[in-house]
Amino acid sequence: MFSNTTKMKLLGILIIYVMCTVVRSETQQLTDWRQQKSYAVNALYRHADAATGVALLQKVADTGDTDANADLLFARLLGTGTSQDLNTVVKDSALLVQDGAARAHTTQALLLAHNLTNQIMTKDELAKEALSHYTIASVGGDPIAQTIIANHYDKMGDCDSAMYNYKKAANNAIQGVYEDLLISVEVTPYVYEEDYPKGAHRPPTPGEVEYLANLARYGDSKAAFQVGAVLSSGVPGVAKDSEQAAEFLQQAVKDNNTLAMVALANLQLRGVIEPNYDEALKLLRTAFQYGEMGAQTGLGRMYMYGLGGVRRDLQRAIFHLQTSITHGSLEALYLLGVIYDGPDGPGEMEDAMQLWELPAKLGHVHSAFRLAEAYRKKMEKTPVTTLKLDDFAVSELLCQKALPLYRLVAMAGEWRHLMEAAYLDFSSGLHNPALLKYLLLSDMGYPEAHVNAARLIDNHIDQVYEDQSSMATQSLLTWQRAADNGLPIGQLRLGDLHYYGQGVQQDFKKAIGYYEKAGNLPVAQFNLAYMMEWGEGTQLDLKKARTLYETLAENHEEAFIPTTLTIFRMDVYRQLNNTFGIDLYSKNFTEYASALIDIENGEIMFTVQYVNSVLSEWDWLLMILLSVFIFRMLTLRRNNNQ
Ligand SMILES: *[C@@H]1O[C@H](CO)[C@@H](O)[C@H](O)[C@H]1NC(C)=O
Ligand SMILES: *[C@@H]1O[C@H](CO)[C@@H](O)[C@H](O)[C@H]1NC(C)=O
Ligand SMILES: *[C@@H]1O[C@H](CO)[C@@H](O)[C@H](O)[C@H]1NC(C)=O
Ligand SMILES: *[C@@H]1O[C@H](CO)[C@@H](O)[C@H](O)[C@H]1NC(C)=O
Repeated sequence: MFSNTTKMKLLGILIIYVMCTVVRSETQQLTDWRQQKSYAVNALYRHADAATGVALLQKVADTGDTDANADLLFARLLGTGTSQDLNTVVKDSALLVQDGAARAHTTQALLLAHNLTNQIMTKDELAKEALSHYTIASVGGDPIAQTIIANHYDKMGDCDSAMYNYKKAANNAIQGVYEDLLISVEVTPYVYEEDYPKGAHRPPTPGEVEYLANLARYGDSKAAFQVGAVLSSGVPGVAKDSEQAAEFLQQAVKDNNTLAMVALANLQLRGVIEPNYDEALKLLRTAFQYGEMGAQTGLGRMYMYGLGGVRRDLQRAIFHLQTSITHGSLEALYLLGVIYDGPDGPGEMEDAMQLWELPAKLGHVHSAFRLAEAYRKKMEKTPVTTLKLDDFAVSELLCQKALPLYRLVAMAGEWRHLMEAAYLDFSSGLHNPALLKYLLLSDMGYPEAHVNAARLIDNHIDQVYEDQSSMATQSLLTWQRAADNGLPIGQLRLGDLHYYGQGVQQDFKKAIGYYEKAGNLPVAQFNLAYMMEWGEGTQLDLKKARTLYETLAENHEEAFIPTTLTIFRMDVYRQLNNTFGIDLYSKNFTEYASALIDIENGEIMFTVQYVNSVLSEWDWLLMILLSVFIFRMLTLRRNNNQ
């Protein structure tokens, strides 16, 4: 007889089986969604992929997913992948934070931090509220908020909390970073030409890339290599396109271009395109035979991991990597460190750390990450229970070492592409979406974002701040951040804001302080000399002012003509004083002829513009200055005749 118990057992097993299947398929679906969601969220940061990201998120959001809803609102706030709609965002954000999604808090925090919620609050209240929302978001796992909070603690001098938060963001960031990424050579576009540091590398414009692509189509293999290199990472206005990059590189390879061989092999080794290890090995070997030293790193990597048909061989890997290091490869230093750190490596952790030190310093992201982790592990080994001062000092020292490394990695996350997206918005006249992106990036601590946001605010080209004083407050905030980051342009603009009393009380003395800190910027030096010439915030001293102008003319080629003209004007003033007894430096004169003051301001403005512009405009400036003199003399003569 088929016993009841057996039946029961079978039924039980069946039920368990069915339940397992249900649970498994649910987990499967969940992981699918998770993966899709993280892909979609990362797509939001890239200009070319953002719309796809929004479409994916919309699908997930339609199932009632609050996280996806929060991400969509975030996209609407930044105007990425969808059109920006600040009014709706302000309304919805206040409601959405109650659902608890981390990104919703980030959105709300950004609105608060930059006074966009239409609530009447003081500066301090806004900052405090924003900080509390950013904190909730960072605890909730949003890497953007984690970076912002880390930046905040760093400024407060709390190394532990700063490092801990940067580490969390870095863990997320490192997943999307290729092993050859050097963050220091990535180009960050400025919305203002003049803000590029002197000698800075600039990205090719889309027009230039198109020109190169045309040359390549007519058979220029060097151009083909260049286009391939550009397309494999992308530049502002030219989206990354690995498949096309591979095609251009292939063309250059056919023409025996060894650099292209290495580049193409690297695309394959990293799995950027369909990996074909045999071909990669052939390319690297050929390039190596032609004497291309860059091929050594790739060969080292192949032996190190035993890729393709190559047998894993640490000795050979080390040989290739070491040769590559003598030719300056940072990635080879990184890889050699990984070998030393590994279980069967010939060295110690300490050796590996030494190897990573240089590439990390120069912006190699993976080296920075490994090194940061090593310092943190050491730090955790130092006993914290004993309250001896020495231990504390050691632990603090290690924290100070790990902190900037984790920051570097956190800043290299996928979100860094928002910088480029913002620039593209700006280029196509979408100033508000550009501004909101820059403000977010500025909160995260990207120095270039401070400058770009401030430029957009200052030039009124955004309609975000209709209220004049609110705008001035934001301008001051962003320039202050630029100055705190050690950017001379930040000091210069703070000087200007204090000089003209915009957003702050007019204060010549403070203006002078900022101009002095603006370092070598010719405009700042010109302004200092000018303030000395007119006794603004300092003792009027014509002799000293003249010397300042002269030094400026000597040291800065671009300032030569404006300063020379100014010195010429000073001479005219002196002549007028000596011959006719007309002292144009006396307050009474300038106050009397108010028109002259306007011209005076105009002159400073033209000079400022002039210093930043090309030399060929000099006769234009000369004409303006001469007309100022003539106008002034006519006015004076009329006054004298009366
Ligand atoms: C915030 O903006 C409002 C106008 O929307 C303005 O009245 C207020 O002064 C601003 N607050 C700050 C601190 O800038
Ligand atoms: C490339 O090099 C190979 C071998 O050295 C040679 O046979 C071939 O002609 C070269 N091709 C071109 C386009 O120079
Ligand atoms: C102008 O001339 C007067 C008298 O010669 C002199 O006292 C004064 O210092 C001069 N002013 C300037 C600015 O050179
Ligand atoms: C400027 O004008 C005031 C009267 O308006 C006069 O008292 C003063 O002496 C004048 N100063 C100079 C330097 O001429």
